[in-house]
Amino acid sequence: MPIETTTAQPRILMCPPDFYGVEYEINPWMDREREVDHALAVEQWADLRAILESIGVKIELVPPRPGLPDLVFTANAAIVFGQRCVLSRFHHEQRQGEEPHFAAILAELGFEVVTLPDERHFEGAGDALFCGETLFGGYRIRSTALGLQHVGRIISREVIPLELVDQRFYHLDTCFCPLTTDQAVWYPPAFDSYGQAVIRSSIPTLIEVTDNEADSFAANAVVVGNRVITNSGCPQLHAELKSRGFEPIATPLGEFVKAGGSAKCLTLRLDGEEATRGRRIAD
Ligand code: ARG
Repeated sequence: MPIETTTAQPRILMCPPDFYGVEYEINPWMDREREVDHALAVEQWADLRAILESIGVKIELVPPRPGLPDLVFTANAAIVFGQRCVLSRFHHEQRQGEEPHFAAILAELGFEVVTLPDERHFEGAGDALFCGETLFGGYRIRSTALGLQHVGRIISREVIPLELVDQRFYHLDTCFCPLTTDQAVWYPPAFDSYGQAVIRSSIPTLIEVTDNEADSFAANAVVVGNRVITNSGCPQLHAELKSRGFEPIATPLGEFVKAGGSAKCLTLRLDGEEATRGRRIAD
């Protein structure tokens, strides 16, 4: 299959971790007793940003805000679809204050920002990922099936709702990562048997992560062309990716794992993910 290349510069939204910390507990990774090393978090975030810039990504920034420690997880801002984006409606009150800040920056960047009705929960690209034309949505723990359906109607795309059954993998991007239109990384135990069967029958090439590497957030990868960036501690996935023609890059993100996030959670792709682009790396 021919390799298509894109000429546009990739753009990613990030938020500096000035006010990042674990100040409440809304997922099993978060423990207020386990302090975040702020200086180290700043360094880890800067390293991730530097890696992205070194491979040609333009970084846009959300201004950090005191009192919103999870604003760093920009994957949860919205789902971007061309020049439109559907803003998140967070499940937990603790994160709802992020919504106007994400809306403002996305509007400033030129996007048409569409909002959902109040009762529909939806946590952006954390729970909604394209693989080809299809939008895969994670529901039950954060986003709701109705919220995902609503998003599908707004962007006129089929949504495949996948039930998440393990509280540790509470967002779809913690256990599923499309690489191209027909290849994805995933952690099967995070899905119910129906979800597993749907993923197996819709995506031709699936790379499974092990229990240990799932705990290191292996599936929470940022994909830019054939580069796949993850937290360190995922050697098996990296070897597998290499053998398939990808270029895996590891960078330590342990301070963010303390809040239940890693590489992908810290980014929001603004110009469309690789997996929506008909691009294939290896045959
Ligand atoms: N502490 C945040 C939360 O529980 C982490 C969000 C991680 N983001 C992601 N896209 N998985 O909401």
